[in-house]
Amino acid sequence: MTMQNNETVQALQWTGNTLRVLDQRQLPELIAYDEYTDALGVTEAIVSMRVRGAPAIGIAAAYGVALSVRKHYAQSNHWRQKVEADIAMLAKSRPTAVNLFWALDQMKAMLAMQLNNPPVAILAFAEKIHADDVAANQKMGELGADVLAGAKGVMTHCNAGALATGGYGTALGVIRSAYKRQAINVYAGETRPWLQGARLTVWELAQDGIASTLIADSAAAWLMKSGAIDWIVVGADRIATNGDAANKIGTYSLAVLARQHGVKLMVVAPTSTIDWKIINGDQIEIEQRNPNELLPDCYNSEDSLVTAWNPVFDVTPAELISAIVTERGVILNPVEQGVRRLKNAI
Ligand code: MRU
Repeated sequence: MTMQNNETVQALQWTGNTLRVLDQRQLPELIAYDEYTDALGVTEAIVSMRVRGAPAIGIAAAYGVALSVRKHYAQSNHWRQKVEADIAMLAKSRPTAVNLFWALDQMKAMLAMQLNNPPVAILAFAEKIHADDVAANQKMGELGADVLAGAKGVMTHCNAGALATGGYGTALGVIRSAYKRQAINVYAGETRPWLQGARLTVWELAQDGIASTLIADSAAAWLMKSGAIDWIVVGADRIATNGDAANKIGTYSLAVLARQHGVKLMVVAPTSTIDWKIINGDQIEIEQRNPNELLPDCYNSEDSLVTAWNPVFDVTPAELISAIVTERGVILNPVEQGVRRLKNAI
């Protein structure tokens, strides 16, 4: 399945009646979509990591609200309460990506309006959130590629591609756009323990005919020392107004290593990833996942002396970030003034 034209692989597809979700846990071996008809199913798809990546989680949740309205509007006079309960359930699916809460807030604001035909209007709004995300990614792709001009090699972490968004991707969108302009060597870290880099990123790039080189996460310092990369390009799950950015666990280590080796770090994220309410990264809740994701089965007993610590995000301080690329513009050296000037930018 090689993609044609400007099309990228799709994590989410609205069929007209249902939401199709690509089960990313099965990639790259299997391309399998699951179909959802209600908010409960969509919540489960997010919790189980069938769909993952901050913008994609937000878009899925928006469709989850649309499904909720379609289900309850015809059945009950109390449909608003039932939709509100579904929104509360969706909000508990994962804690770190602010795009989830952003999308749910947008849907709530829309629901609060006088609507002639709520199921139709709410679905149209979810589709708009989806389409806007793709447009933002394409814009960021161009802006980020401008910043990368002349770079010979880049490294990315986790998967911040079409699979993690409405399409095209944030970090991978920049890499896609840069690749169209000039030959560039792309490296991807495996991204333990879920292996988003090994299973998703290199596969997604290959679908577009973009060659990449996979490295063990622990090879990153040595790669930087070799001089092969000029930039690390990553996405984000939540950015504080001072420019601190939460992203997949290991991003912070890459940022520290990058500083040591004279490599720059670019964070690419739509403004829906900025949490305007928080002033720094200390206020970001970091998701802790089940230790079983790390532990070999033999240590999974009650009396085992071996446990695991499994935070799945970390926060990179603004001082280690060279550029934050959004659809509203690029902030160079965010440590100086954070991202506040983007709030009212168009
Ligand atoms: O646990 P995941 O796979 O949802 O984590 C995803 C990431 O950390 C991505 O880098 C981030 O959400 C940005 S996706 C455009």
